Amino acid sequence: MYYIGIDLGTSAMKLLLADEQGAILHIVTKEYPLLLPQPGWSEQEPAEWWDACVSGVRELLRGFDAADVAGIGVGGQMHGLVVLDGQDDVIRPAILWNDGRTAGEVEYLNGEIGKGRLSAWTANIAFAGFTAPKILWMRRHEPERFARIAKIMLPKDYINYRLTGVHACDYSDASGMLLLDVEHRRWSAEMLDICGVSEAQMPKLFESYEVIGTLKPEIAAQLGLPETVKVVAGAGDNAAAAVGTGTVGEGACNISLGTSGTIFISSEAFGVDPNNALHAFAHADGNYHLMGCMLSAASCNKWFCEEILNTSDYAAEQIPITEDKLGNNRVYFLPYLMGERSPINDTDARGTFIGLSMDTTRADLVQAVLEGVAFAIRDSLEVARSQGIAVAHSKICGGGAKSPLWRKIISNVLNLSLDIPQTEEGPGYGGALLAMVGCGAYESVAACADALVHTTQTIAPDPEIAGRYEAAYQKFRKIYPAVKELFPNLA
Ligand code: XUL
Repeated sequence: MYYIGIDLGTSAMKLLLADEQGAILHIVTKEYPLLLPQPGWSEQEPAEWWDACVSGVRELLRGFDAADVAGIGVGGQMHGLVVLDGQDDVIRPAILWNDGRTAGEVEYLNGEIGKGRLSAWTANIAFAGFTAPKILWMRRHEPERFARIAKIMLPKDYINYRLTGVHACDYSDASGMLLLDVEHRRWSAEMLDICGVSEAQMPKLFESYEVIGTLKPEIAAQLGLPETVKVVAGAGDNAAAAVGTGTVGEGACNISLGTSGTIFISSEAFGVDPNNALHAFAHADGNYHLMGCMLSAASCNKWFCEEILNTSDYAAEQIPITEDKLGNNRVYFLPYLMGERSPINDTDARGTFIGLSMDTTRADLVQAVLEGVAFAIRDSLEVARSQGIAVAHSKICGGGAKSPLWRKIISNVLNLSLDIPQTEEGPGYGGALLAMVGCGAYESVAACADALVHTTQTIAPDPEIAGRYEAAYQKFRKIYPAVKELFPNLA
């Protein structure tokens, strides 16, 4: 049988077709625009996602027998607020995970409601990208639209709703709404009340690998699929990516280098970071995880190459960055192009180059961008390490993980061995694996990942380079505290 895994990303939807042995038979990418209507705002039209899904599935199936498709699993960008009215029409563009408009609502939640209570109810505090502050923002700034809300959902749940007609969400993605009691896997009555919404407006909750329904007949016809195709609840993209890289069970780690950059540490027991710098979320395998999320990761490199250097040949830009240069760069880059989430939680922070001199080269700047992202991921890893969580090695996935140079920089900056899985298509592959479990091909997510995910290469840190990067990281970590006060005035 075949399984379709879908990664509903920020720059594109990636769809893949896999068989039960885990072979990826076909991959299709459909891009869509990111809307930046005001500085710090980030939106997308759910209709664009749906169009990408319909044309993407049809293209994916070309040359394959669609009658053999058994299931679909979607991993989606987290936290985005999608609101539908009583006629199932989308009320406004989705407000995305990297949108920074809710600084006021975050201040209200963390300040007046209080971090202690938020953490007790939801295991997390408020960050600008989370869903609850966006609901509060809508209530305050768009009261007429707010009054029309019949259904609240996350991006991938919109796709699942269009596919099946079932208003569902899984626990991993729901964790990022700040509306879920993560430990007990139920909606938090306190948080729903604070946001002025009722449980009737919220999706029904499922485990990621549970089947929420089958395709609606008219949708099956539109996609060219049998009506019997099962759709599982799916997961937030990071939990899906963790499944797709085999990051399940106790103490496994995955780094994702997509538009965002995340470090994801899975655990069998529920646990909260005492300072809430890391998110404490449910995992797609039925357990839990801690996660640090930076808002701009591979997107920093994309921005620098495409917008500033005017090239899309990223590999060519990396050729001059030879091994002797690693850890010796005198230019540093703060990668806060969209503000930053973990661990600094600062919507005003912005990208910064520092240390330029007359002999700085183009390649030094490219290197600084790659290193700045690695240093910022290390900031989150240090939070985990400070809590006694020992991470010895990690998986890595996402578009940025295709660059051998960037992988080497990350391995040495973090002083971690990186296991490269057979595919960097983390969320899409994880989605397909969840669908296999939902359809009964494997008895659990762990069993499925164990059987299908394997490491093709391990990158070990080099003691000399890692030593140089240790010194460089100690310099990097002083830069943000020194310039932090300037950012609000630059806005
Ligand atoms: C995680 C997060 C991002 C998005 C991007 O908390 O906000 O990783 O899920 O896709």
